[in-house]
Amino acid sequence: MGRSTIGNTVDSIAKWLLKFRIISKPAGYLSNSKLAWSIVSRTDRIRTKRLEARIKNEKLPDHISIIMDGNRRFAWSQSLEREIGHLRGKEKLKEVMEWILNLKIKYLTVYALSTENINARESEELDSLYDLYEIGLNEIAEDPLIHSNNVKVQAVGRIEELPERVKIAIKNAENKTSSYSDYIFTVCLAYGGREEIVDAVKEIAGDHADGKIELENINSMEISKRLYSANIPDPDLVIRTSGEERISNFLLWQIAYSELYFTDVHWPSFSRNNLYEAIESYQYRRRKYGK
Ligand code: FPP
Repeated sequence: MGRSTIGNTVDSIAKWLLKFRIISKPAGYLSNSKLAWSIVSRTDRIRTKRLEARIKNEKLPDHISIIMDGNRRFAWSQSLEREIGHLRGKEKLKEVMEWILNLKIKYLTVYALSTENINARESEELDSLYDLYEIGLNEIAEDPLIHSNNVKVQAVGRIEELPERVKIAIKNAENKTSSYSDYIFTVCLAYGGREEIVDAVKEIAGDHADGKIELENINSMEISKRLYSANIPDPDLVIRTSGEERISNFLLWQIAYSELYFTDVHWPSFSRNNLYEAIESYQYRRRKYGK
C-alpha cells in the first residue's frame, strides 16, 4: 500500500468516525480523559493535513474575500461580553491571514465595517470597534509576518467617515507596507457596495461633464477602474460565516462571477479546517463566468 493510499484510508476512517460521532461522543462523556481528547484532536489534525494536501493539488483561488460575521453571537453563546466577541474576531483575522499566506493566495479582502453598521450600532459598540481597528491596524503595521511576506495593506470605503484615530492607524499600516506587492490585504471599513458604485458613477459623470469621456465610451471597464479596489482583481471566492446567506452590500460589483460559500460557524470559531473546506468546495464547482 503506497503512502497516499494509507493517507486516504486514514482520512476516510477519520471522516467516518467524526460523522457518526463515535469519537467525539465518548470523549464528551470522558471529558477528563486526556487520551480521549488527544484522539479527537489528532483525528482533526490528520483530517486538516489531508485536506491541505488535497486543496494544494488543485488550482487555488487567487482572491478570497470574507464577510466576518457572528462576533456577537459567538460572545453570547459563551456568555461573554459583546466586546470579547469582537476582540476574538480581531485575533481570528490574524490567524486567517497567516493561513492564507501559507497557501500563497495573493489577495485577501475582509469586510470589517459596513456603512449600515455605522448607522445602526450604538455609539458605545462603535467606539469599542474603532478601538479594535486602531489597535489591530497598528499591530498589522508592525507584524513580522506582513513584512517577511511583502504584504501591502490597504483600507477601502468611505474612510472620511471614520474617527481620526482610525484614519491615523490606516495611514500607518498603508505607509509601512506601501512598497510591497507580493500580497495585498484589503480591509473594507465604512464600506458599502452601493456607495462604491455611486462614487464611481459620480466620478464618471464628472469626467463626462469635463469632456474627458464620451457617453458611448462608458462601459463596465470604466466603472471597474473607478472602484475603491481598482488595483485588485474580482474575488474568486466569497466566504460568509455565521449562517446568514446574503451579501449585505459587500463588493456588489466585483462578485458578479464569484463563488459564494456560507458556513454556520461564527467568525471567532472559524478554523483552518473551515477555510480549507471552503476552498475545496470552490475547487469542486465548475466556473462558467456566465457562459
Ligand atoms: C460582524 O459581527 C463583525 C463586525 C461588525 C466587526 C468585525 C471586526 C473584526 C473581526 C475586527 C477586525 C479588525 C481589524 C484590524 C480589521 P457582528 O457584530 O455583526 O456579530 P453578529 O452577527 O453575531 O451580530
